[in-house]
Amino acid sequence: MHHGYLSIIRMIETDLEFEKDAVRIYNEFAEKVSDAQLREMFLEFAKAETGHVNGLQRLLQFIQDGEHEVKFYCPVCGWEVNFGKNPGIGDQARCRMCGVIFELIEIGGDYDIRRL
Ligand SMILES: [Fe+2]
Repeated sequence: MHHGYLSIIRMIETDLEFEKDAVRIYNEFAEKVSDAQLREMFLEFAKAETGHVNGLQRLLQFIQDGEHEVKFYCPVCGWEVNFGKNPGIGDQARCRMCGVIFELIEIGGDYDIRRL
């Protein structure tokens, strides 16, 4: 598992299970109803939920491949502070709006930032 993403990966995996269940349940509903319009509606729901499953799986893969940029909102001005892809603990980044420098830290498996 990629360091710094513990809680995020857990949340994505939990959501992924929920979305997979939704796909299965909507498809079961579609099989069981006799009304053609209802069947079409449940198939549309299943299709939408499949899109969520695919998106979450892509996001997980992106994180595992180190392709996800580690970004925080600057606690001083609200602008984006970007540590880039696959940063190391202790890396520093400067807020491009207010100029404050932050250090990337890890707390309990999750990335966080500390003002220098
Ligand atoms: Fe800032």
